[in-house]
Amino acid sequence: MSDAHPDHVVVNRDHWDTNAHEWVASGAHNWALDTPEWGIWGIGNAELPLLPEELSGLDAIELGCGTAYGSAWMARRGARRVVGVDASAEQLTTATRLADQHGVDLELIHGDAQAVPLPDGSVDFALSEYGASIWCDPYRWVPEAWRLLRPGGRLVFLGTHPLAHVTAPLDGAVPIDTTLHRGWFDLYRLDWTDAVDDPGGIEFCLPTSGWMALFHEVGFVVEDYREPRCSVTGEEVRFAVTPTWANRWPSEQAWWLRKA
Ligand SMILES: C[S@@+](CC[C@H](N)C(=O)[O-])C[C@H]1O[C@@H](n2cnc3c(N)ncnc32)[C@H](O)[C@@H]1O
Repeated sequence: MSDAHPDHVVVNRDHWDTNAHEWVASGAHNWALDTPEWGIWGIGNAELPLLPEELSGLDAIELGCGTAYGSAWMARRGARRVVGVDASAEQLTTATRLADQHGVDLELIHGDAQAVPLPDGSVDFALSEYGASIWCDPYRWVPEAWRLLRPGGRLVFLGTHPLAHVTAPLDGAVPIDTTLHRGWFDLYRLDWTDAVDDPGGIEFCLPTSGWMALFHEVGFVVEDYREPRCSVTGEEVRFAVTPTWANRWPSEQAWWLRKA
């Protein structure tokens, strides 16, 4: 992957290459589960059905696959071809090792989920769990997902809820709190590279009406939208959020879209 990419792609690629070693254990854990669990709170697919039970005969892609357990689950559910795209070579090294270890056949592409080197209409199902869904510019990756899908194909994604970004202290201190630190309508690009706690990369999120407008403009029909709730309380911070916070307010959002 060259550096001829938008700056956030280069920043995020370097961030993930540097930090990939911290994700090996959780990736291995997720690959070894009996059924998929999603997101910060490990919610099972029965409660948060990012994946349908059956993907037999369908071509699938994961945008920002990381350690690729989402891709593994698509293969295990019968998908004919599963492609995982990720900007981080280090993450893909873990993904390749786990795929070999579990005997799952995946096609892994080192690249930008906003510009995937596949023809139009290549897949029937696209997934992103905290991949492109938070690390890519929605105005680039959502149209790219639409381009990759065949008519009637589905895009399902999980990521950070806009409310969790609005209540994040501007200096990146954790945990998020109950103050509105930034404007809801200003939400777009969130640069955490200089965060005082756990500096990160550059994320993106839109206000809910902004996501809706984008889906409409691109040509996606919204089939479902959910705000997964953390079922327990507690003060142990996970990804800048406490369970107590996420039990009272939505920390995550999930969208089910269909290409019209
Ligand atoms: C939290 S992981 C999510 C993937 C998977 N669910 C997991 O937890 O292993 C985020 C991934 O997004 C990838 N990513 C960030 N920007 C990307 C881009 N522009 N294109 C493709 N992947 C990207 C990172 O390299 C990282 O592996």
